Amino acid sequence: MSRQAILVLDFGGQYNQLIARRVRECSVYCEVKPYTVSLEEIRAFDPMGIIFTGGPGSVYEEKAPHVDPAVFQLGVPVLGICYGCQLMAQYLGGSVTAAQADTAREYGKTETFYDTGCRLFQGLPAQGISWMSHGDYMARVPEGFRLVGHTAACPNAAIADEARGFYGVQFHPEVNHTEHGVDMIRNFLYAVCGARGEWTMGDYKKTAIAAIREKVGDGRVLLALSGGVDSSVCAALLAEAVGRQLTCVFVDHGLMRLNEGDEVEAAFSKWDINFIRVDAEARFLLKLAGESDPERKRKIIGAEFIRVFEEEARKIGKVDFLAQGTIYPDVIESGAGDAAVIKSHHNVGGLPDYVDFKEIIEPLRLLFKDEVRQLGRELGLPEYLVSRQPFPGPGLAIRVIGDLTKEKLDILREADAIYRQEIAAAGEDRNINQYFAVLTNTRSVGVMGDGRTYDYTLALRAVTTSDFMTADWARIPYDLLDKISSRIVNEVRGINRIVYDVTSKPPATIEWE
Ligand code: XMP
Repeated sequence: MSRQAILVLDFGGQYNQLIARRVRECSVYCEVKPYTVSLEEIRAFDPMGIIFTGGPGSVYEEKAPHVDPAVFQLGVPVLGICYGCQLMAQYLGGSVTAAQADTAREYGKTETFYDTGCRLFQGLPAQGISWMSHGDYMARVPEGFRLVGHTAACPNAAIADEARGFYGVQFHPEVNHTEHGVDMIRNFLYAVCGARGEWTMGDYKKTAIAAIREKVGDGRVLLALSGGVDSSVCAALLAEAVGRQLTCVFVDHGLMRLNEGDEVEAAFSKWDINFIRVDAEARFLLKLAGESDPERKRKIIGAEFIRVFEEEARKIGKVDFLAQGTIYPDVIESGAGDAAVIKSHHNVGGLPDYVDFKEIIEPLRLLFKDEVRQLGRELGLPEYLVSRQPFPGPGLAIRVIGDLTKEKLDILREADAIYRQEIAAAGEDRNINQYFAVLTNTRSVGVMGDGRTYDYTLALRAVTTSDFMTADWARIPYDLLDKISSRIVNEVRGINRIVYDVTSKPPATIEWE
């Protein structure tokens, strides 16, 4: 019997890691391998099912990616997606051509009809939206296959040879736009391949730790810890894997939220690692003094961060590995190739070029954000670290408008803490994706007790968003805003007026600077 593992054979499509992620979501172990793997390697991997991904090529082109057709003789079920479907059709005696008529070419959301008698679609609605992206189509379906899905333009949106366990879909079940797409993948895994759904993030942790140990050997690892979710989880994983061989350098630039630096330090005290917290507040404030241009603030912080990190690295001396908390969306955003190197410190401005290391390791490179959080929980990181909302690398420096002083930062820290406390206490943190306070540079006249005040205006920002590329301002209940406003004005000296930001992105951005 085959092992409880799925092989995702990568033909170069853009959603390949997303397929892997969906398989993991269904509690099944999987690995993505390039289409160039040999039949022997596939045999050795011993998968219970194989998924062929999409890809940019056309199967009839000379340089089209191929796999050894003997893969269909292994007795292992195959699900072909888009290009993968066409490749399977071509290998097994069908034919694929460029769609001549516009009607056979399909892009985007498409109404699709399914044969729910087919195992792939069992238990699902017979009709729904699927996400199409193909310019080729199967002119002839291979013998033994029947049509199990169609659209208005395409009679063979899904094909199946259930006796041999071969399934093909022209659409992309792995993307969110395809209704019940994950259920189709689950059907393939459970109803076709016989998955038992035993894989957990705990298993991922064990495998990742073993892989890190093997790679690192007795070498030394250096990690720049920012306190964000990704670098924290990366640090925890490495701590578990190599303990004292790891040195985490946490550059505390003094631009963190209330108690954040201490929280980060406390979270890592449970591991026996070398943890260096560099108190760099004074030098950051000095560098930033008098600067009120948002872009220049960002640049100064990025450059200074690297400088501090390099100084610490120099003290440590030679390290073998520089670890980074790059996660999969970072890899996609920065394109292929040496993507990780460009992106990993996007938070703080760039990679240190001084640091003397042999190799970069990125243990979270294939995980999505919510998986990283899950892994963090598995590693025993506290919930406040694991579930924290995004926090920009330049920290509060870009939330104090205009020039920066320690006094202003302290005012903002206090106000922001109250705001976050109240939002969480009201349970609104479940509905809002990011919320924070901004200390504006505007002062206005107020009256407190019997006296006149001339203090800062604080802006409250809260947005709902799924991708942070666009965002809507959150409709926080008035009563809650009222409570937050009176608490801040009463408890924080230096603020006498609160405004709520009611602009979406675009035209505004989420942060003010
Ligand atoms: P904007 O303000 O561009 O922010 O709408 C979108 C998201 O990105 C976060 N952000 C940053 N994150 N380094 C980061 O890691 C940065 O320099 C940075 N600037 C903005 C912002 O908090 C929001 O989630």
